[in-house]
Amino acid sequence: MLRTHTCGELSISDIDNEVRLCGWNQKSRDLGGMTFIDIRDRYGITQVVFNMDVDEGLCKKARKLGREYVICVEGKVIERSNKNKKLKTGDIEIIAKGLKILNESKTPPFTIEDNTDGGEDLRMQYRYLDLRRGPIKRNIELRHQVLQETRKYLDREGFLDIETPSLIKSTPEGARDFVVPSRMNPGEFYALPQSPQTFKQLLMVSGFDKYFQIVKCFRDEDLRADRQPEFTQIDCEMSFVEQADVLQTFEGLIKHLFAAVKNISLDEFKTICYDEAMQYYGTDKPDLRFGMPFKEMNELCQNNGFNVFDKAELVVGFNANGCGTYSRKNLDALTNFVIRPQIGAKGLVYVKCNEDGSYKSSVDKFFDQNALANWAKAMNAKEGDLLLILAGTKGQTRKALGELRLEIGNREGLRDNNKFAPLWITDFPLLDWDEEENRWNAMHHPFTSPKEEDIPLMDTDPGKVKANAYDMVINGVELGGGSIRIHKKTLQQKMFNCLGFTEEEAQSQFGFLLNAFEYGAPPHGGIAFGFDRITAMLGGKESIREFIAFPKNNAGRDVMLNTPSAISERQLKELGINLSC
Ligand code: AMO
Repeated sequence: MLRTHTCGELSISDIDNEVRLCGWNQKSRDLGGMTFIDIRDRYGITQVVFNMDVDEGLCKKARKLGREYVICVEGKVIERSNKNKKLKTGDIEIIAKGLKILNESKTPPFTIEDNTDGGEDLRMQYRYLDLRRGPIKRNIELRHQVLQETRKYLDREGFLDIETPSLIKSTPEGARDFVVPSRMNPGEFYALPQSPQTFKQLLMVSGFDKYFQIVKCFRDEDLRADRQPEFTQIDCEMSFVEQADVLQTFEGLIKHLFAAVKNISLDEFKTICYDEAMQYYGTDKPDLRFGMPFKEMNELCQNNGFNVFDKAELVVGFNANGCGTYSRKNLDALTNFVIRPQIGAKGLVYVKCNEDGSYKSSVDKFFDQNALANWAKAMNAKEGDLLLILAGTKGQTRKALGELRLEIGNREGLRDNNKFAPLWITDFPLLDWDEEENRWNAMHHPFTSPKEEDIPLMDTDPGKVKANAYDMVINGVELGGGSIRIHKKTLQQKMFNCLGFTEEEAQSQFGFLLNAFEYGAPPHGGIAFGFDRITAMLGGKESIREFIAFPKNNAGRDVMLNTPSAISERQLKELGINLSC
């Protein structure tokens, strides 16, 4: 080994030892008679001292080192007179006796420090340098730890890690496929998996009753802070289980990860059905670190001559506890927040519950104190509270109020990164009406089973059918989702039929699965977690990009590789692709 120790491990107990360290020159300070170098590696930083009186030549060599030069330093460990409590190795330093330059470095385009001067684009372009910085490096180490703990738990629970192929046929998960042309089959394409869904079901037919895989998935969809075109799932499936068994097993996984990685013991997860989540929080992934549930107000608010309320399908509000002292400026900011095109509300009605028991509202012209008092009572409001109310169509108004609830949570500091509110959302609808295409889509995916008692509704009122589907949500982030699957051919065909597939189309796209169901498919179900999202949550951040070594930007580009990029004429020809037509 070139080194005897890492740059993060020497302490008082090593004093007087001769050591050899390798790493990068983080920074050097020249104090005339002495030169100090901070040498850095993955494990930490150690201070090295070059003394003019001891070795003038060596000291001069040290002075010439540029930032990020790769060096090997030899010397003796001594106790530091002025200790640095912030540094793990801050009790000691090394008196250098030798210095070898292992490689030179250009001056990096941004500082390799925890607080860098580099902007996002530059850091992405030089990601290998960004990864040297403490915060990103620690995120990658955390990811490793979460990976190991996931494997440990699932292995202990008897799950078998089985790899499935990446060159496959489309698996519908609601996004577009990335496709790969086949040279040997001109004009034909593989799809990269949006998830290994059908394979894991086939593995259940094969009898591997507990499967898992930590696997790359690919989805061509609009990107956000919590979405990457290629991301990693903890993908799992079990046979001979009901919904409660799956929820229990995977609540166990998440509790294990929080305990092992953060030393946090999570309480029993709440379970809320989809309809309730929508009614009380306006979203299927509510952030329950704080309350402020919605109250539907149609009966109390309508038929009073206030057109906005009278004409609305839904009037709904919530009590922003303790926000009754918001200034005009704050209230205007909230109004501006809801009328932004992304939120799309027409306006915001507020009622301030004053300390003297009176009310001040934005609709005083239409509603007297008595009416406002009734609203306050219905919303359990007391003096000092603020009622916020929206009106309009049901879906859109709930969604907008849900965003406003989160905005209040942000403003009031109620979305504390050190607090965790885990829950299961259950009883999703099986189908979702697609206005544009004028047909039903699977809300989860087409392999999700309807609730047994709702099967007849598939013929008469498909929108009412509930599914055996569930999501795990923590702090408003969907960490995972799954379902109990259809395992009988006739029901799967019925589902394809609901989705508008002809029998031939179903057979040609999913014949392999329908056929497999004819050879003794066991009842089965499972779940997949967004591994990047879990890691980001454990790391206390929203953006998954910071936990992926080489992520893509929001346009789906790798700016370091500068890809996607064109390929040569020769490659195109080989693949039988003619771009001109
Ligand atoms: P689903 O589509 O809900 O289910 O995906 C499971 C979980 O994967 C994460 N996720 C993503 N993470 C980062 N970037 C993305 N683009 C992205 N898309 C999804 C989310 C999500 O909850 N086959 C089913 C699972 C099953 O039924 O077992 C599936 O893939 O955290």
